[in-house]
Amino acid sequence: MKIISSIREMQVFSESARNSGQKISFVPTMGYFHDGHLSLMREGRQRADCLAISIYVNPTQFGPSEDFEKYPRDFERDKDLAGDVGVDVIFYPEDKEMYPEHYQTYVNVENVTQNLCGMSRPGHFRGVTTVCAKLFNIVKPHYAIFGEKDFQQLVAIKRMVLDLNMDLDIIGMPIVREPDGLAMSSRNVYLKTDEREAALNMSRSLKIAKEMYDRGERDVAAILAQVRKYIERHPHTNIDYAKICDTTTLKDIGYIEGESVLALAVKINKTRLIDNYVFGNRLDV
Ligand code: PAJ
Repeated sequence: MKIISSIREMQVFSESARNSGQKISFVPTMGYFHDGHLSLMREGRQRADCLAISIYVNPTQFGPSEDFEKYPRDFERDKDLAGDVGVDVIFYPEDKEMYPEHYQTYVNVENVTQNLCGMSRPGHFRGVTTVCAKLFNIVKPHYAIFGEKDFQQLVAIKRMVLDLNMDLDIIGMPIVREPDGLAMSSRNVYLKTDEREAALNMSRSLKIAKEMYDRGERDVAAILAQVRKYIERHPHTNIDYAKICDTTTLKDIGYIEGESVLALAVKINKTRLIDNYVFGNRLDV
């Protein structure tokens, strides 16, 4: 497995893989791997001859009062896990390589980034789409694989790729959960025992919504009232948003007709977690 931190070197590596007829799949990450990350890498391994990943905690997607400094990092452990799933190359750049002096170009996907996390994390998606556009130019993949856990991120990336005619396919993969239903997240390490118990209410509330939907309920207000009530039972929780949106526009809806997603962001004391459920899909909770 190769570890590359220079942009030029990564581009040369990818160009020569492409020239020898290989397909490249790519999984961008911020590291501190869990099974959710590894499931994306396994998918990438299946799809292509060459599997590239990136590990980069991207400063431009964190707000000034967010956890950029504190974000968990463990490169040695990540390297071993990547080796186990058959990664060929890790792109592992430093900030000064990605954002040198005088850097000033950003990609902004307009509409689908307004609602949900766009409301409480201004500038977040601009940072995400910018770094992904850069990474796609550096790694030159045929496929890039993202998790549905970050549903709005996946929608924004797909939109960017379509709108800017980027020559790669974006693949979305299902949310990987802990055995008790908690969506895997690098930020779960912040949770103390009673906070983790509170966090479980998120996936449990999605299950309540799924059951209501399966019984025929289509009224958004009725479903969200139950979801909120369930989450707020626990003292440590503070709902940032609980919304049901159209999966293409990510606008709020009042009644479920087309494909719709229930998206949640909840602060458990200081830790902000997200989860979601697309109505009609499986839910392993
Ligand atoms: P990160 O949070 O490290 O996530 C990397 C990828 O793993 C994302 O596509 C995310 O959706 C996926 N992922 C996280 N938890 C998952 C889970 N429980 N099940 C399935 N997939 C999961 O998302 C980012 O990094 C960054 O924003 C990035 C795209 C790398 C840009 O900086």
